[in-house]
Amino acid sequence: MSYIKMPILEESGFAVVDSYNQSADPREWENLVYVDWKSSGDTRFAPLASAYGDMECDGFWNHTPPKTDKDGVWVTENVEIAPLLTDRAQEVGANIGRCRVIELQPNTYADSIFNLHRDDNNRLNPEGTGWIVRSFYNLTDNPDSVMILREDRDDPATEVRVPLPAGTQVVIDTQRLYHAVWHPGNEPRYCLITSYESGPNLQKWIDSRNPVTSIESPYMDPAVIDAGNTDAIRRRAEREAARLGSTDTGAAESGSMGTEVLSEA
Ligand SMILES: [Fe+2]
Repeated sequence: MSYIKMPILEESGFAVVDSYNQSADPREWENLVYVDWKSSGDTRFAPLASAYGDMECDGFWNHTPPKTDKDGVWVTENVEIAPLLTDRAQEVGANIGRCRVIELQPNTYADSIFNLHRDDNNRLNPEGTGWIVRSFYNLTDNPDSVMILREDRDDPATEVRVPLPAGTQVVIDTQRLYHAVWHPGNEPRYCLITSYESGPNLQKWIDSRNPVTSIESPYMDPAVIDAGNTDAIRRRAEREAARLGSTDTGAAESGSMGTEVLSEA
């Protein structure tokens, strides 16, 4: 038995859909309650849905009882602050797991390549049910920032860069594609990230918004890409060496933090 997956994501692992016009909406993300949660850079998160409704961001499997990334429980305090963002997440009609706003501080291209990771979305997810994928709704206007996607983490030839102006909406199989955001701005970037169960409701939401599964990436100087890639590979090797040097403490095993630390974008 295998998981239910959506054909639209089979080709490239992502679908960019029509942007959402949020120009008339209040900037709800500015008032949310954020918790420190380091993930793919200098980040904080504001949970709208967590495993059991608490103001925390841990993976659903890391609770008692553990659960897969479905049936998220709304976090009352933040839902009351951000009813429109909550509505946007719920309008899809698919089962929701983790749902939160990420705050990402500016970084470099090399940082983002170093941060490339795949999410652990389907731990404990029973086969025969829908594969968990994630939507990214960019909230701040970051036209010079990009969501970097790679099929092969170390191969720039597989790289796609999705620009992130306000209202950009992308659905990504983040357990398939390596991903991270390069955000060269001066202010933090905010994005609503929601885990959804693949199935007819999510498919319908995507299909009704003119999805595209391939885009032309904004131009980058190949020398910058090469330099960033080389730097990231070196930093990864250093991290791995440090990890191997500390395994006697158990701290670097791929346990709850080890996985979740690199699970957002
Ligand atoms: Fe991620």
